Amino acid sequence: MDSKKDYYILGIESSCDETAAAVVKNGREVLSNIISSQIDIHTLYGGVVPEIASRKHIERINQVVDEALKEAGMKPEEFDAVGVTYGPGLVGPLLIGVSFAKAFSYAANVPLVGVNHIEGHISANFIENPELEPPFLCLVVSGGHTHLVRVNDYGKYEILGMTQDDAAGEAFDKVARAIGLGYPGGPKIDKVSKEGDPDAIHFPRAHVGDSEYDFSFSGLKSAVLNYLNSMEMKHEEIVQADVAASFQKAVVDVLVQNSMKALDRYGDKTFAIAGGVASNSALRAAMKKACAERNIRFCHPSPVLCTDNAAMIGAAAYYDFMAGCRAGLDLNAVPNLRLGER
Ligand code: KG4
Ligand code: ZN
Repeated sequence: MDSKKDYYILGIESSCDETAAAVVKNGREVLSNIISSQIDIHTLYGGVVPEIASRKHIERINQVVDEALKEAGMKPEEFDAVGVTYGPGLVGPLLIGVSFAKAFSYAANVPLVGVNHIEGHISANFIENPELEPPFLCLVVSGGHTHLVRVNDYGKYEILGMTQDDAAGEAFDKVARAIGLGYPGGPKIDKVSKEGDPDAIHFPRAHVGDSEYDFSFSGLKSAVLNYLNSMEMKHEEIVQADVAASFQKAVVDVLVQNSMKALDRYGDKTFAIAGGVASNSALRAAMKKACAERNIRFCHPSPVLCTDNAAMIGAAAYYDFMAGCRAGLDLNAVPNLRLGER
């Protein structure tokens, strides 16, 4: 391939409740990043309703892609590839993005690349850290995933540990609902925790599973629910900010401990975080401190690139494309797609 050529990728993301399209140049430079969030609608139901999400993706995808092209000053035929999330995620929402990308690929005669959503989250780190190169260690913490991953090379992942039950973001969302903060829980707990005492209540830090790097958050969620029930039975006042801050600290402690254990074991000099929960201010501060103590470089995407977006899909698609990955028009949504699987 001509090394001087610039590569333009259209990224498309629709795996959950964000309809997103972005134009990414050479895997690192974002020319446009359009995100249409459905949070307002799903908030009414206290969580994502898959049927509604699918319908909204259909309504919005044309407009979102048009806007991404317009902002980047690109025509469909000018792309080197269209990259689309085909899993993991909700099957209905995924199918909208996949169908759109197939039609785009066929109509504009540009190659199609299927992208793993978790790989997308990890790749968000390439966008604002131009000198970041594998190998490095990455903690992916989102609403659906909690993975500690060694990125051995572009597109080459080794999963060191993962959650055995709830994802970190899921725990944030469930606890937020229990203490009356509503959906989406993560950003609300993050905010209210700033007013609370993280040492007010001691919640358990679970270490379970086959691997010493695995996570478990369902016990912590139950501990918070038990605490709320027992306080209610005793007619004692529940301090929302203290519960939020203490819960958040319990999550952050485990995420930091497992990540640092893996860093010590694998000797990596660079550590990255990714996914919606990676925008959590307490997690960022704790990881920054722990990495500084070990002289390890700490990377994290801006909040807008932590939560679901298509720029990260464009970045991941670029490296998949350069490695020769191409999808056919028979590409299907794979709701349970694992990292590293094709
Ligand atoms: O990556 P993402 O947008 O979607 C998935 O792929 O799951 O992550 C969404 C999750 C939600 O659970 C949300 O509550 C959580 O990320 N989240 C946060 C914060 N911002 C979003 N969790 C903790 N603190 C935050 N600031
Ligand atoms: Zn995500």
